[in-house]
Amino acid sequence: MDVSGKKAVVFGGTSGIGLATARQLAELGAEVIAISRDPSKAGAPGPGISLRQGDVRDREGLTATLAALAPYDILISAATGGERAFGPFLEMDLDGYQASFDKLWGYANVVRLGAGHLSDNGAIVLVSGYPARSTEVGMIALGSVGAAVEAFARYVAREIAPRRINVVSPGFIDTPLFALQGAERAEMIAESTAGQPIARAGTADEVAQAIVFAVHNDFVTGTTIDVEGGVLLT
Ligand SMILES: NC(=O)c1ccc[n+]([C@@H]2O[C@H](COP(=O)([O-])OP(=O)(O)OC[C@H]3O[C@@H](n4cnc5c(N)ncnc54)[C@H](OP(=O)(O)O)[C@@H]3O)[C@@H](O)[C@H]2O)c1
Repeated sequence: MDVSGKKAVVFGGTSGIGLATARQLAELGAEVIAISRDPSKAGAPGPGISLRQGDVRDREGLTATLAALAPYDILISAATGGERAFGPFLEMDLDGYQASFDKLWGYANVVRLGAGHLSDNGAIVLVSGYPARSTEVGMIALGSVGAAVEAFARYVAREIAPRRINVVSPGFIDTPLFALQGAERAEMIAESTAGQPIARAGTADEVAQAIVFAVHNDFVTGTTIDVEGGVLLT
């Protein structure tokens, strides 16, 4: 797909990976609408990007938003969707485990309510995460959700063809998702990435490059692209 002149709707497009994706698509000439619960966090996102308020868990609001923006060519969700739970499964709060699936429900809402407005050669991209295929202690909630997102996209790929859907799976990426600042943040990142072949956090732009690739390449569908510094090798 030649992105220039296309319309792109990016949920979670106001921060981190989603915002980097919105900027790269806009630089390539797309008209981008970046949506989140509090879009003011994007500040002045740059030329070609307009901001809109929306919650991926609100089906009624989503239905109206997507109808108002239709038709569009590119539909992306990088929205975290809600709280994320950490810890070993046998010790963790089951409500927290269940609530972590808000990310999947958000993606399901976006795809179900949004795919019908996609142009004939349109493309969808979702974001999972390396725990989907790792077994790191404490990451079972994120892993379960990420694996569900990847399976979801494989199934949907057959239903929406020739339109396409793919998943990009990040490793540890330095974004506002992590609240720590200064020395504490640097220490947390160094500890979290020390064992990786590429022993640093990735950047939102490095993940966005893979999302743009999945949009651009018309022969890629139903797959997951890892951008993870080799963490899955550890
Ligand atoms: N950073 C990492 O290391 C990492 C690793 C693996 C996977 N991921 C995944 O990558 C994706 C992007 O993460 P990020 O690191 O870029 O995080 P981020 O900087 O916190 O951005 C998350 C975005 O999602 C939006 N959002 C959250 N809940 C939403 C909702 N219910 N409805 C609409 N928008 C919502 C946020 O805006 P509002 O708060 O204004 O709604 C924000 O724009 C997430 O799915 C995350 O799980 C990240």
